[in-house]
Amino acid sequence: MPIQGCRKMQPGIRMSKKLIVMLAIGTRPEAIKMAPIYQKLIENPMIETRLCLTAQHREMLDQVLSIFNIKADIDLNLMTENQSLVQISSAILTQMSQVFRDTKPDWVLVQGDTTTVMTSALAAFYNNVRIGHVEAGLRSNRKNEPFPEEINRRIASVLADLHFAPTELARQNLLREGIPAKQIVVTGNPVIDALQQISAMPFSIKGSMLENIPFEEKRILTVTAHRRENHGEPLEQICQALSDLSEKYSDCLHIVFPVHLNPIVRNTVTAALSNLPNVSLLPPLEYRTFIHLLKRTRILLTDSGGLQEEAPGLGVPVLVLREVTERPEGVDSGNLRLIGTERNDIVCHVSELMDNQQMWQKMSEAKNPYGDGKAAERIVAALLHAAR
Ligand code: UD1
Ligand code: UDP
Repeated sequence: MPIQGCRKMQPGIRMSKKLIVMLAIGTRPEAIKMAPIYQKLIENPMIETRLCLTAQHREMLDQVLSIFNIKADIDLNLMTENQSLVQISSAILTQMSQVFRDTKPDWVLVQGDTTTVMTSALAAFYNNVRIGHVEAGLRSNRKNEPFPEEINRRIASVLADLHFAPTELARQNLLREGIPAKQIVVTGNPVIDALQQISAMPFSIKGSMLENIPFEEKRILTVTAHRRENHGEPLEQICQALSDLSEKYSDCLHIVFPVHLNPIVRNTVTAALSNLPNVSLLPPLEYRTFIHLLKRTRILLTDSGGLQEEAPGLGVPVLVLREVTERPEGVDSGNLRLIGTERNDIVCHVSELMDNQQMWQKMSEAKNPYGDGKAAERIVAALLHAAR
């Protein structure tokens, strides 16, 4: 066989192949926070982007992908009704391992602290795929709060090669755990990128799921709750408190509760609150509709993680239905207060905000500790830099 001459490189032309980056997404909040990153990745000519859905969520995930007009390359479609952690974890671990073997990406990006994140990162590690962790470094420092997310994100940190910390505080948490400084980049949280993008889209209340909400006549208390550690007694207490509040402020308050599709949550909430006149139980709202509800909300009562990041930027006071939070920046900025899940505490804190205009005013000053809307840009730049 004749020996071939060396290939000649032309100036300005890269010899290396494109960087193959896979995004693994499972649930609604992951899709919201990954959408701006996906958009930046696909417009970059040096990157080949592949989107893989574990579909740990189905309808709630599809709602988000549709509003951002994103189509998946691979859809594992793994959600089952009332799935257990073991069931969904083992399914994702097995299936994602196969995906990595078949597609051989250079990097996988995972976001947050769900089962999808922990198991996709583990599958990537087993298959020698480098891991970028978005929203890295959040810590409550309590093993079971939230359960199992505190442990999921710690495992993701142990496995990741590049850590996209949303805030300086998150970076400090990672440094304390021995993650090398050069592997951590403070980027802001891409939830703010998503929020800005969605807020700019046209929207009309008329014809939407919010059409019958009495925004003009009453103050709006928006509620979401779904955390596993709040299932059972805590969620019962939350519902009892809402019932008390609907009676106490029957003339001036309207409660809007988009109920999570988890049957455990749905059954408890519908049994307790279905027939109250000033309570609207809604299905999960499409992201744009939900943000417009949030903009018209007087007080937000929630155990959600993402909402603790979005509400401060919109100047909505948040009463957090938890004992501890991994997002202390919002507490420090004065927008969030931790109130737990006891019936009397909830009634008392909501009443304070209803009756004390000065206190409400103070908590409703819009601040933005979680980013400037450019997190996705920074994440893609850092990824390219690390891959050089
Ligand atoms: C999961 C995440 C949690 C995140 C939340 C976002 C873990 C361990 N927890 O909650 O961090 O805050 O998602 O909402 O990963 N269901 C549907 N359709 C859907 C979504 C859910 O029917 O589109 C029902 C199914 O019966 C499913 C159940 O809800 O089995 C629970 O879903 P799952 O993702 O397991 O919920 P969590 O683990 O509580
Ligand atoms: N959200 C939504 N529709 C709803 C309720 C919430 O689009 O009916 C959005 C919300 O704005 C936030 C995200 O869903 O961005 C939070 O998801 P969730 O509370 O399910 O998960 P967490 O953030 O707690 O992980």
